Amino acid sequence: MPLRCCSVSGIVVCLLLLSGCQWDTSPEVQPPPVVEVPPHFPPLPVPPENPLTPDRVELGRRLFYDPQALSPTGTHACASCHRQERAFSDVLMLSTGIHGRKHWRSTLSLANAAYAPVLLWDGAIGSLEEDVLLTLSSPGALGWSDTAAFAQHLRHIPSYRAASLRVFGAEPSAALAAKAIAAFVRTLLSGNAPYDRFVQGDRTALSSQQQRGMALFFRLGCAECHRPPLFTDYDFHCTGLVAHYWEEGRASVTGDPTDVARFRTPSLRNVALTAPYLHDGSVGSLREVLRRYNSGGYPVPTKDGRIRPLGLSEQELEDLEAFLHSLTDSSLVRNPRYSRPE
Ligand code: HEC
Ligand code: HEC
Repeated sequence: MPLRCCSVSGIVVCLLLLSGCQWDTSPEVQPPPVVEVPPHFPPLPVPPENPLTPDRVELGRRLFYDPQALSPTGTHACASCHRQERAFSDVLMLSTGIHGRKHWRSTLSLANAAYAPVLLWDGAIGSLEEDVLLTLSSPGALGWSDTAAFAQHLRHIPSYRAASLRVFGAEPSAALAAKAIAAFVRTLLSGNAPYDRFVQGDRTALSSQQQRGMALFFRLGCAECHRPPLFTDYDFHCTGLVAHYWEEGRASVTGDPTDVARFRTPSLRNVALTAPYLHDGSVGSLREVLRRYNSGGYPVPTKDGRIRPLGLSEQELEDLEAFLHSLTDSSLVRNPRYSRPE
């Protein structure tokens, strides 16, 4: 508990505060916050069992970028598929894990993943910690035979052993590494795009074309599913944007036939950086996604009734695309706190 003292007409008044015991005589030096939540975002959900402390986040960042630590082959880390310059998604149609195995779905951006009540395209996973544990032992990603083999490996790297003892007071384990990596991922927030500056009152932040596109976006009902400020409702819908659904989507989790071909609405933040698109990465450009919306999508039995032909002109498609570009947050892709550590 620090003792904050001040002198009032010669009498020293001390206040007992909540975090450690020290005589505080120097001017207040606040440590920089671990994460700055954009002012128009909801409060950041942080599980009480994994508080966002600076040392957890820093350890998580080192692991996120370290292929020697994270894969048995020394070739793959989280950053192999979640690349900062692509808003922490991937350029490939389907990401490639160790041994060149293809993951069967397109990589999701990690920006604002902290807010997702359930993760992955089908919502199969409930927390970032759980996601990391599964990724470690998934043959399509990092490829450990089991989490014990990973923990054993990490214990033999002296710097991680020391870091785990310092940060958690315990030997490295998969669960503790998952906590640290999840803490780092939770700090990857993106809410400083031209769109954000516009809604915060800077009327010059969007071009007139982007403003026309924004009006269309709301008028056409895109925002019903891609709801600001996160540009997703975290719900599951079938859009009929692809002709063939090779997998069941949400139904693989719920077993409900009405959930077939429904996928979690992806956030549109930074969407200009996250090509290719859709759950299977089958569409290469934003313009092509918009054309498919314009045509009303393919006739798929579970398609959402709101996806219908829109009758937009080429000019309107261009405006809409220009608006989507205004959701690109250059502070996310350049933030040194999110980058590979030195
Ligand atoms: C081989 C490529 C690959 C590697 C390596 C990889 N990921 Fe992923 N990641 C993906 C793909 C593909 C998805 C989407 C999978 C799905 O929905 O089924 C994904 C999804 C996620 C999600 C869910 C995001 C959301 O909004 O639902 C999180 C979180 C995540 N990854 C974190 C990580 C972390 C942390 C690591 C390192 C421990 C990692 N990933 C390693 C390819 C990869
Ligand atoms: C009924 C809910 C719903 C509506 C309405 C909707 N979307 Fe979507 N959107 C989704 C879902 C779900 C996906 C993912 C579909 C998939 O991968 O199969 C998606 C995908 C996208 C993507 C690709 C993003 C990526 O990362 O792959 C873009 C771009 C997009 N939508 C833009 C729009 C625009 C523009 C509108 C309005 C014309 C719109 N959406 C209306 C639910 C919706």
